[in-house]
Amino acid sequence: MSEDIKKGLLGIVVDETEVSKVMPEINSLTYRGYAAQDLCAACRFEEVAYLILNKDLPNSIQLKKFEKEEKDHRELSKNLYEIIKHMPKKSHPMDVARTAVSVMGLEDKETSNSSPEANMRKALRIFAKTPTALAAFYRIRKGKKIIKPKKDLTFAENFFYMCFGKVPQREIVKAFDVSLILYAEHSFNVSTFTARTITSSLSDIHGAITGAIASLKGPLHGGANEEVMHMMRKIKKPENALKWINNALKNKEVVMGFGHRVYKSGDSRVPTMREYFGKVAKIKKDRTFEKIYDIVEKVMIKKKNIYPNVDYPTGPTYHLMGFDTDFFTPIFVISRITGWSAHIMEQHAANKLIRPLASYKGNKHRKVMQLNQR
Ligand code: SDX
Repeated sequence: MSEDIKKGLLGIVVDETEVSKVMPEINSLTYRGYAAQDLCAACRFEEVAYLILNKDLPNSIQLKKFEKEEKDHRELSKNLYEIIKHMPKKSHPMDVARTAVSVMGLEDKETSNSSPEANMRKALRIFAKTPTALAAFYRIRKGKKIIKPKKDLTFAENFFYMCFGKVPQREIVKAFDVSLILYAEHSFNVSTFTARTITSSLSDIHGAITGAIASLKGPLHGGANEEVMHMMRKIKKPENALKWINNALKNKEVVMGFGHRVYKSGDSRVPTMREYFGKVAKIKKDRTFEKIYDIVEKVMIKKKNIYPNVDYPTGPTYHLMGFDTDFFTPIFVISRITGWSAHIMEQHAANKLIRPLASYKGNKHRKVMQLNQR
């Protein structure tokens, strides 16, 4: 491969952004200038969603208005509920999310309007409705009645309520809220760059977010949190962990939940998420996954110098919260819609069609022979 090709755009800076800054050198991440871990300590997810979309933290009046708008848009059309009811029960929830956002695009009265104001309104509608669509599928595939969203619950509480029919204790909701803050935004990751690429042809926000969801599903990206749980289930008990991970490394397997394109000595979000994983494990009185977590992490760092990424602690945490494993990445979606939307609006504001070049290595130029001569 010729030397000037950077496969996977490795290390290539393709544009500027004001949304977030990933700083591997100091192992830090800021959203609009605020450190993610500080936001986890001081804010609820709704405040961070507002920050990412509106460029600053809300005051109490702005937050109240934002929360009311989000709650007012949680409900789905009858049509979308019907479509979800007719989706194959074995569908992957990531495909349900992708399809639901597409249908929202068909129904949205502002689909052909990509002005900043219309995009902000559409972003909020997608943000408010996607959890409802996912929770509806969660219930339907278990043969249970759909639970409609409640307006007197926060974003995090309402998702638990629509999936399980009840809101767990405060500490569990806080841990979930923290995971949503940590998942919300991460600069030019592959799903965000997918959204920006789709936007660069001036296509609409529903299409850009549909593409981003498809990208996030991949196990090298958001799908890793689901794969982490499959790995932990295969290991089953802490006493199996050492043998399992050494075997995996011997077989040169890719260990899910580890490694990162940008962070090379640890994902800045992991310490915070690991802390809340521990809190949830304590509340649920189940330390099995924590013990497996620590053994595998130690070997990966020691033998490969490869560190966990945010998907490593979120997987077992969502499991302990009671979510089905294939719902872990959809939780990533309901959070990342905020980051994707901010980048879509930023791309519109200073757009340039994204169209890279390729180095051709196929057949030399040749004549076309008539069919009866081939
Ligand atoms: C997310 O970009 C973002 O910001 C994404 C994200 C976000 O918030 O949007 O942070 C969320 O997607 C986190 C990543 C989740 N993915 C996984 O956990 C899947 C497992 N990770 C790997 O596939 C890998 O680490 C990537 C894809 C995440 C990053 O890989 P790179 O930068 O393309 O590097 P690479 O695959 O070329 O790996 C470099 C070396 C290779 O060894 P050699 O061939 O040079 O000998 O490190 C090895 C790899 O084999 N390696 C791993 C490994 N990750 C890297 N070996 C085993 N297990 C791993 N997990």
